[in-house]
Amino acid sequence: MESMGALRRTHNCNELGLDNLQSEVTLMGWVLRRRDHGGVIFIDLRDRWGITQVVFNPEHNKEVHAKAHQIRNEWVLAVRGTVNSRPADMENTKLKTGAIEIMGEELRILNSSETPPFPIDEDVEVSDNLRLQYRYLDMRRPEISDNLILRHKASQAIRNYLNENNFLEVETPMLTRSTPEGARDYLVPSRVNKGKFYALPQSPQLFKQLLMMAGMDRYFQIVKCFRDEDLRADRQPEFTQIDMELSFIDEEDIITITEGMIKNLFAATKGIKLDPPFQKMTYDESMRRFGTDRPDTRFGLELVDLTEGLKGCGFKVFNGAIEQGGSVKAINAKNCATFSRKDLDNLTEYAGRFGARGMAWIKIKDDEWQSPITKFFNDEEIAYMRETLEAEPGDLILFGADNSRTVDQVLAEIRLELARRLNLISNDTFNFLWITEFPLVEYDEGEKRYTALHHPFTAPNEDQIDLLESDPAKVKSRAYDLVLNGNEIGGGSIRIHNKDIQQKVFNTLGIDEQEAQDKFGFLLRALELGAPPHGGIAFGLDRLMMLLTGSSSIRDVIAFPKTQKATCPLTEAPASIDRKQLTELSLRPDWE
Ligand code: AMO
Ligand code: AMP
Repeated sequence: MESMGALRRTHNCNELGLDNLQSEVTLMGWVLRRRDHGGVIFIDLRDRWGITQVVFNPEHNKEVHAKAHQIRNEWVLAVRGTVNSRPADMENTKLKTGAIEIMGEELRILNSSETPPFPIDEDVEVSDNLRLQYRYLDMRRPEISDNLILRHKASQAIRNYLNENNFLEVETPMLTRSTPEGARDYLVPSRVNKGKFYALPQSPQLFKQLLMMAGMDRYFQIVKCFRDEDLRADRQPEFTQIDMELSFIDEEDIITITEGMIKNLFAATKGIKLDPPFQKMTYDESMRRFGTDRPDTRFGLELVDLTEGLKGCGFKVFNGAIEQGGSVKAINAKNCATFSRKDLDNLTEYAGRFGARGMAWIKIKDDEWQSPITKFFNDEEIAYMRETLEAEPGDLILFGADNSRTVDQVLAEIRLELARRLNLISNDTFNFLWITEFPLVEYDEGEKRYTALHHPFTAPNEDQIDLLESDPAKVKSRAYDLVLNGNEIGGGSIRIHNKDIQQKVFNTLGIDEQEAQDKFGFLLRALELGAPPHGGIAFGLDRLMMLLTGSSSIRDVIAFPKTQKATCPLTEAPASIDRKQLTELSLRPDWE
């Protein structure tokens, strides 16, 4: 191992070109590849910026060439040399530095490396666990490092935009009390207050509202949030929000300002020109047409409700669902009558994963309706389906019949799966869609009470306050979500700034005055001390970056992500702790 000595880096590994011919330069970086061509040694030297080829030629410098012989992949080098043009047939047009190479004059080996557990320079299949265990090696690959660089640019663009729009960046506590965002809390025991726990924030929701009450007027923070929930490709236990709150505004103000932010972000990171205002759709319409509140609108295959026209039909599965208050919906898969029995069995199996008890289908072939279920329908019902579904020869109709929630859930997934199978999804389209007029609450069958669809601080529609007691399910809220290509990338609402209404909403949610005082007394008190009208929104930065980079998981845009089981293979967190630490925290384990 050698020191850098007097050598100082003059350029990065993505900088030099024909303009630099004959200059003396010093590069530092890692050995991506080493090739030995009949005595001449070629090294691809890599750093965060790119790759430059270095040549050690025994005819040019015997001593340095001899030294270069021992070099292996991933060793760390400092190389001083002269910029030469490559012979015409040796140019690499794929590399920015592909027209030149460095003739090595001086070589310092700053560090060696054992053979890495997976090659950095090849696109080989590596298990996710191994990649995460050696994340620092994984990050040497441009697939990950480019994402992190883009994420940095995104954060900068967001900060600049919000700063120009008079937002103040304020930090809020990580050791705090539970904020209900619908997930389980990560808890931290307090040593000095025995038996008491902090919760890591699921979001800074209450603090940002308190900042409005403090007169800060416009707040933002790029902030970590923690939620102990089942993980998926677009969910991590800790993730980052672009969190915002504004005073003296309404929905339109927030929508306009954040559209500007997104537009700015896409331009600054990817040079993509967006053209707000984005489309809007009510929650009810979205559920009706897509079966979900985050529809991917890049393709059709919409859900068609057949409940009305099939009431009393002869097919027991359908009629039974309708009689029990459920629904029958269908998707017309255009030109899919060619699907084989196996394709259909496959799709039915797929539907089953989302709760379907079956999936009836009809193939429309030159006016003949092929299906085991056609016999159950009379002419009128067939005509009704043909018209409502705009069914034509060559089409395939797929049905869902059950309680409405299951039907929507299943057909929404079938719709996505069909689009994937039929290649209907364009990867360079960005379809933004605001979903508005959400219900304020939904009934939780398990807990036998209403829960907030967004969170308990979301303002109900002003004209429907009276319904809070009599018919809460009818009340719409002033919440909005931003959906991008079927992903929920942001959500927010106008908040309640009146204590009585806040108490009423708590009541609807089965939180009585005592419990409200215990949990949110500080908020209720602040509402009595001059709270301005306010509202806000939070965007999932990881999800935005996932979509901007075309990644399939948010893990690819997070430096040190966790596995599906919320573990970190690199640090082996979570880890056991000493008995002594437990005692200090007054915790008695029951897992031993
Ligand atoms: P919400 O719960 O909708 O709203 O969260 C806002 C956005 O955060 C992202 N997100 C996640 N990203 C990755 N992993 C997760 N586990 C995860 N959970 C959420 C989503 C989501 O749209 N306080 C409110 C905002 C407000 O009302 O202003 C809130 O947290 O992209
Ligand atoms: P069965 O009467 O159970 O033989 O079902 C006849 C057809 O209806 C089959 O194609 C089933 O897959 C389908 N089917 C059964 N239950 C449902 C359901 N809940 N929704 C849609 N199709 C169903």
